[in-house]
Amino acid sequence: MATRCKTAVLISGSGTNLQAFIDRVESGALNLDLSVVFSNKPDAFGLVRARNADIPTACIEHGDFADRDSFDRAMAAKLDEWQPDLLVLAGFMRILGAAFVARYAGRILNIHPALLPAYPGLNTHQRVLDAGDKWHGSTVHFVTEELDGGPRILQGRLPVIPSETADQLAARVQAVEHRIYPEAAGWVGEGRVEYRDGRTWIDGAIADEPVVHTFDIDGRKR
Ligand code: GAR
Repeated sequence: MATRCKTAVLISGSGTNLQAFIDRVESGALNLDLSVVFSNKPDAFGLVRARNADIPTACIEHGDFADRDSFDRAMAAKLDEWQPDLLVLAGFMRILGAAFVARYAGRILNIHPALLPAYPGLNTHQRVLDAGDKWHGSTVHFVTEELDGGPRILQGRLPVIPSETADQLAARVQAVEHRIYPEAAGWVGEGRVEYRDGRTWIDGAIADEPVVHTFDIDGRKR
């Protein structure tokens, strides 16, 4: 993408990942144009974060629509007002239908709080603790029709502390997310990372395994 990548961030909640993007862009460390923040929930705190950063906001409540496709169509029509190059799902807790995914094929990123392909779906932190896993983390990936199954780009992994609660583990994972998500989106924005034929390409080569950053228990990158 030659021009500054027009980015729509989609949220449903607190928006701490959105805040990480805002902070990076404001500091000059991330070269994305944060064009709009979209929420499916009017009370999402991320909308406040966007307004505080003078980013346009849009909200359409999924409950106002009879089915997923009609909500998806309304969301796409709204987003297209900004002609986004890239859609960043940052805690957007709606499953996207096939038509929506196809419309923005290869231009939707998600972050999922697990080391995919392990633990797609919900309650990942508790499931990791219950399984006694040594490592946990988060994955930035392209969105395809398969839930949490699109080609991976970047993972941040950190050691699990067996005695910690799911909330404590979630907080440590989120701190990692705030590092890796803007970084991976920046790679896409500058054209280093692309989605082609259902796979991730990094620097012109197929990358079926994600880049992995390892962090220590205090969140320092190793
Ligand atoms: C993030 O931890 C993200 O990984 C997760 O929601 C959280 C949103 O936090 N996403 C999913 O679970 C998607 N399946 P935030 O609103 O503070 O950025």
